[in-house]
Amino acid sequence: MVKVLFVCLGNICRSPTADGVFSKLLADQGLAEHIAVDSCGTSDWHIGKAPDQRTQATARKRGYDLSVLRARTVHMTDFEQFDHILAMDENNLRDLLDMAPLHQHGKIRLFLGYAPASGITAVPDPFYDGDDGFEHVLDLVEEACDGLLEVIKENA
Ligand code: 4NP
Repeated sequence: MVKVLFVCLGNICRSPTADGVFSKLLADQGLAEHIAVDSCGTSDWHIGKAPDQRTQATARKRGYDLSVLRARTVHMTDFEQFDHILAMDENNLRDLLDMAPLHQHGKIRLFLGYAPASGITAVPDPFYDGDDGFEHVLDLVEEACDGLLEVIKENA
């Protein structure tokens, strides 16, 4: 079982989007029993909340149901339990590296490393943006999820 954890700041916009998109990709390809997915935030600001309504609405239009997800904060045990810990931006990456034991740093990376054609390194925080920001997040997340799954398959 390969375990993937997506991480952003609040766990109500970007990482739940990645959680829902990657979960659907796995289900569509019959891989859900082989790859486990979760998401969390580096902050504790929104613990227990469902994803942002704008995030959910944007995802729903493309066939992703994020309504069952609930925000949680990152735990020290995550660094042991997950194989791929994917940060949405450089702040999330730095916070994770600050927390994690050194021997776990190799599994912590920027998610957009799997979307090199995007030309950017971070999924922009859409929280204070208009609707376009949420569409952009979804575009980037779909691209990086495809890239991530290819790499996991190659390494399987
Ligand atoms: P996320 O977006 O990190 O993609 O979930 C944010 C959600 C909430 C806040 C910032 C970013 N906030 O400031 O509450």
